[in-house]
Amino acid sequence: MPCNKAIRYKTITVSVIVVGVKKIMYSRFGGPEVLELVESERPHPGEGQIRISVRAAAVNAFDWRVREGQRLGTHPVTLPSGLGIDASGVVDMVGPGVMGTAVGDAVFGEGRDTYAESAVMTVWHPMPAPLSYEEAAGYPSVLEAALRVLDEVEARSGETLLVSGAAGGVGSAVVQIARSRGVHVIGTAGTGNQRYLRSIGASATTYGDGWVERVRALGTIDAALDLAGAGVLPQLVQLTGNPNRVVTIADLDAAQHGVHFSGAAGDVAGALAEGSRLVVDGVLKLPVAATYTLAEAAAAHVDSRAGHTRGRRIIVI
Ligand SMILES: NC(=O)c1ccc[n+]([C@@H]2O[C@H](COP(=O)([O-])OP(=O)(O)OC[C@H]3O[C@@H](n4cnc5c(N)ncnc54)[C@H](OP(=O)(O)O)[C@@H]3O)[C@@H](O)[C@H]2O)c1
Repeated sequence: MPCNKAIRYKTITVSVIVVGVKKIMYSRFGGPEVLELVESERPHPGEGQIRISVRAAAVNAFDWRVREGQRLGTHPVTLPSGLGIDASGVVDMVGPGVMGTAVGDAVFGEGRDTYAESAVMTVWHPMPAPLSYEEAAGYPSVLEAALRVLDEVEARSGETLLVSGAAGGVGSAVVQIARSRGVHVIGTAGTGNQRYLRSIGASATTYGDGWVERVRALGTIDAALDLAGAGVLPQLVQLTGNPNRVVTIADLDAAQHGVHFSGAAGDVAGALAEGSRLVVDGVLKLPVAATYTLAEAAAAHVDSRAGHTRGRRIIVI
């Protein structure tokens, strides 16, 4: 005889724990004190993007300018916002349509909100073998700016290029790439960076009183780059004798002096590829000026804003 079996259903409760990642956020424009270390969900890469487990992120002057609200015309920010463009790390998710990059690859490049344990990258390249994660994070924006301004100022082999602000991130790359192209470089920097400038191939002199005469004593200038925004455009025009041979990335009064202000980001992917070749060939090395933890992001901004960075300041995750 068939018997009815009672079927008992068990209720199973599943707990899903969402593990957050640490990142730097700010919810109002202002001084370094607006930066906060918070827990957040991992971001998701969109079409043609990847996500990395960030190992290091660069501190660029652009970052603290945005945090202060200086760049709102060209770089709209919706608050609250994260910070940071440049990073290196290990790919842990690949977005739709991405070819040639796999989970586990070590990459460096540009993305968004890179002051974080996890970030989405929009342009990247395999990390060159000679570089550590700390070193690699410093290159992306610097490479793009250095290659762009060297093209725009049209410095040719055999010419002499004057670089105002030659010891910073962009300056260090400009000097070494220009030298590799057969361009003579005269660089200005503080007293503490004279030996460094010579070590990367430039003739060096200090900025400050009498600098124009000191530069003249070192050579005749064909072209000049202002990378420090120290208010020297009239002197650079005087030294080159031609405003068309002067380019600035840091002086907003450029037009007043008939000088080109270079601001639009160029070919980042191309710059990463060319920069990688230069690194592998031993032509280019960017020093790490100092390292910071994520919790020390505000201190990194204070130090960067002081304006005497040699190479790049790096947040290490
Ligand atoms: N428009 C663009 O596309 C673009 C792109 C990148 C950067 N930028 C801007 O360009 C500037 C430089 O960027 P960076 O990343 O190279 O800066 P950085 O790494 O902070 O370096 C600044 C350098 O300026 C030098 N300096 C300070 N006062 C100077 C003076 N009076 N004369 C000459 N040099 C002086 C310092 O040399 P000492 O330490 O020897 O004093 C330091 O090496 C920043 O203002 C940044 O916002 C613009």
